[in-house]
Amino acid sequence: MTAFDFDTHVVDNLPAPAAKWTGFARHNFIGGHNAPESIVASQLADCARDVLTREAQSLAFYNVGHGPQGYMPLREWLRDKLDRQAGIKCTTDEILVTSGSSPAIDLVNRVMLSPGDTVVVEQSNYGGVLRRLERLKCDMISLELDEGGMRMDQLERALSDLKAKGKKAKYIYTIPTVQNPTATIMPLDRRQEMLRLAEAHDTAIFEDECYSDLIWTGERPPAIYALDETGRTIFTSTFSKSIAPALRVGYLVAKWPFLSRAIACKSDAGSGMLEQMTLAEFCPKYFDGHLASLIKLLENKRDVLIEALNENFGTTVEFSHPPGGIFLWVKFPDTVDTSELTKVANAAGIAVNPGPEWSVHHPEGNRHIRLCYASPSPDDIRQGVSELADVCHDRFGVPLRSANRARQT
Ligand SMILES: Cc1ncc(COP(=O)(O)O)c(C=O)c1O
Repeated sequence: MTAFDFDTHVVDNLPAPAAKWTGFARHNFIGGHNAPESIVASQLADCARDVLTREAQSLAFYNVGHGPQGYMPLREWLRDKLDRQAGIKCTTDEILVTSGSSPAIDLVNRVMLSPGDTVVVEQSNYGGVLRRLERLKCDMISLELDEGGMRMDQLERALSDLKAKGKKAKYIYTIPTVQNPTATIMPLDRRQEMLRLAEAHDTAIFEDECYSDLIWTGERPPAIYALDETGRTIFTSTFSKSIAPALRVGYLVAKWPFLSRAIACKSDAGSGMLEQMTLAEFCPKYFDGHLASLIKLLENKRDVLIEALNENFGTTVEFSHPPGGIFLWVKFPDTVDTSELTKVANAAGIAVNPGPEWSVHHPEGNRHIRLCYASPSPDDIRQGVSELADVCHDRFGVPLRSANRARQT
């Protein structure tokens, strides 16, 4: 019998087929995983048990009878948290719970984008969004970042250039608070300026606040959504970075003219309720305390990584000290092709994200790698960085010195 050939039956323009999962690398610095030791197992288990003991019968109903926007007690907690921490005044009707912020991004794109549309993005960026925009065949205008995030002079120029061509950006995608991968935090005046420009050029803003809970000082500027008096901002965030990515709980916040469109396009019959119910039980009791210890743990891991890089790479690499988050964006000299470095490191059991996948067509991307320091242990960080320096030296001849000793060339 001849095997059925699916390749001749699938639609055009699919992404390349997925590779089979072969497990994590020995030293895993990729992805946005969280710290395993931060997972508060017994509290989560107690919360799941308590809510199920009380409300298990409601699982018989799609969305436990709370409608397509998600479990009401979770939305109530989110409404209060957004007010307290991001300055956002919204109602539970402006919140749509999704299975992580990835589906929230897909919903925004589903509602807003057609092939050929233009989107403004930060040049160094979350690869997941860049891949989506490529697949949707959108034109990306990428803007440089400085220590305050997306540069507003470049935004003004980009929007004016589009206007001169009779075009508009569909939205400006920004990660203003602890940007991925640069970890910059956009100051208040820049957020206001972005809103001013968006209004002048009649475009929307898509604000992705994945990491804004993870700032060492706990202090952050208000969300762009909070400053927006025109209803043009769509906000997304997630529990992936503050609690656990495997829970798959994120959310969109938007005014009804947008949110009603997104709800109409959400075709999964509701996001998982057990996770939402557990979080609604957990968050009022434990979220703030948990976050305080998670932040300490992450800051310590950041310090370990920086120390390990200084010791093993010396002045060969450059980076700024992230004020929060889980990533370090590390710059190499131009003699190091970071895509090639990523390949040889991977072969040696050290997984790092290559800069070009986290950048929009820009030579700077080739000079960077992104390291996630949240999931490896401090010992693993030290060992992984030391092995990365060996691999880099063997392939590119740098670093010339490690731990104050010259290397053989
Ligand atoms: C900026 C940004 N947005 C969205 C996501 C998606 O996260 P999740 O789907 O786990 O909520 C990530 C994941 O790393 C991210 O870095």
